[in-house]
Amino acid sequence: MNRFLNIALPKGRLGEKVYDMFARAGYECPDILEENRKLVFENETLGVRYFWVKPSDVGVYVERGAADIGVAGKDILLEYSPDVYELLDLNLGRCRMAVAAKSGFYDDRRRTLRVATKFSNIAANYYASLGRDIDIIHLNGSIEIAPILGLSDVIVDIVETGKTLRENNLEVVETIVPISARLVANKAGYEFRREQIEALSSALAKLVEA
Ligand code: PRP
Repeated sequence: MNRFLNIALPKGRLGEKVYDMFARAGYECPDILEENRKLVFENETLGVRYFWVKPSDVGVYVERGAADIGVAGKDILLEYSPDVYELLDLNLGRCRMAVAAKSGFYDDRRRTLRVATKFSNIAANYYASLGRDIDIIHLNGSIEIAPILGLSDVIVDIVETGKTLRENNLEVVETIVPISARLVANKAGYEFRREQIEALSSALAKLVEA
């Protein structure tokens, strides 16, 4: 059996850090650093094939076996619940999922809370755990604008440095969960290629510990 190990990387800033870590772990693929619009890169000697996918799609590729392994933010895993193995916390892309609102916000529990978010499932689960009635307003980006325009009372979103909130006069009301990038594997593929995947996972784990 001589098939490539297929690895789905999240396109963008996080993906570049992730690739750098894979390269340091001994799984380099120098073509990937070329400035072009290619999405698939192979290192035949090492038997690895990387491809860039939209960060929110990593779980789909891995769950369905188009990728044997991949790297996804915990936010994506919590939101879409793909049926994959979560092997390792890579300790990259650290941030948190939080509730934020305009400063001075007061939650009147007699009213349904209007929550704007890209993460509808995370928000629904969080407020269900509190027994709080909410109305979810699903947006695809620039979530911070919703409370400013009165579209929502609060937002549920990623906070990294806090700069976006500060510059829009919003503040964190509550942290829901810390987030970081995770190595995930297709369940059947993991059984089938356990040795190869475990070698990669333990090489990455050493770098995480260092
Ligand atoms: C993310 C998130 C916040 C911002 C947080 O947005 O949705 O808007 O980053 O980072 P900070 O705390 O360091 O300011 P992203 O850039 O992914 O864009 P979008 O959500 O508006 O699409």
